[in-house]
Amino acid sequence: MPRREGEICTTAAGSRDAAQPPVPTVPTPRIACDGRAGRETLRLRSYQAVDAGRVVQLVADALERLYPTGGEWLDRKLRSLDGGGVRCTLAEVGCTLLGLTIETVKGLGRRKLSTIWVNEAVRGRGIGTALIDSCLANWRRELLKEAYVTASLQVVEAVALLLVPAGFQFRALELDRYGAGRDEVVLAWSPASRGASADRGWVDEQLGELQALHKD
Ligand SMILES: CC(C)(COP(=O)(O)OP(=O)(O)OC[C@H]1O[C@@H](n2cnc3c(N)ncnc32)[C@H](O)[C@@H]1OP(=O)(O)O)[C@@H](O)C(=O)NCCC(=O)NCCS
Repeated sequence: MPRREGEICTTAAGSRDAAQPPVPTVPTPRIACDGRAGRETLRLRSYQAVDAGRVVQLVADALERLYPTGGEWLDRKLRSLDGGGVRCTLAEVGCTLLGLTIETVKGLGRRKLSTIWVNEAVRGRGIGTALIDSCLANWRRELLKEAYVTASLQVVEAVALLLVPAGFQFRALELDRYGAGRDEVVLAWSPASRGASADRGWVDEQLGELQALHKD
């Protein structure tokens, strides 16, 4: 995808090139963290247990707002990362955590993108794109048949601006999925829809369909 002005330069392991190996697990940098982004180079790497506190700080409040037991869910996911079946990729600048994805294996050839999140303060600078490109590179290499995401109807438009051009398409609206008024939209990706997303008309049609959900 083309770069926007102010976009962070990306040196994301595993992103964009299908021939790349998986995002490698590298040691967490043992340098003092003062909470500021020290340099403008974005790095993607796999989650390690030592990252738990920073991950909770980044995303737990948002998940609690969106889902009744979002905090507990996150805790469970992070604990199950060691046992396989769950993959968490972190996006950092220096030692500042700015975004993440959590993916869950759902049977052979199927994966759920359980969460994609970028810190509000740094949205619109290409971090979400780097994260989803990294997922796509992994999925192509793993010959995944399908990936899907469920997003709250409240946030689906922002999520769709990122995910539809990457090949996700509207699959279903689950009314009251997490309680009264907590509707969820299911978006699904397959290698075929990834091809279709090269067509701007297809992308606009998908985005229009999602916008219309708010009016129904
Ligand atoms: C969706 C999300 C991950 C996107 O992250 P991001 O870092 O802002 O993404 P990018 O900067 O790579 O932008 C992706 C696309 O979003 C759109 N976009 C992003 N910022 C925008 C802005 N300020 N104005 C207009 N469009 C914007 C653009 O269409 C952009 O595509 P482009 O490359 O064609 O310009 C982020 O908005 C987010 O975390 N939202 C909350 C998601 C959520 O609720 N997750 C929990 C449930 S899964």
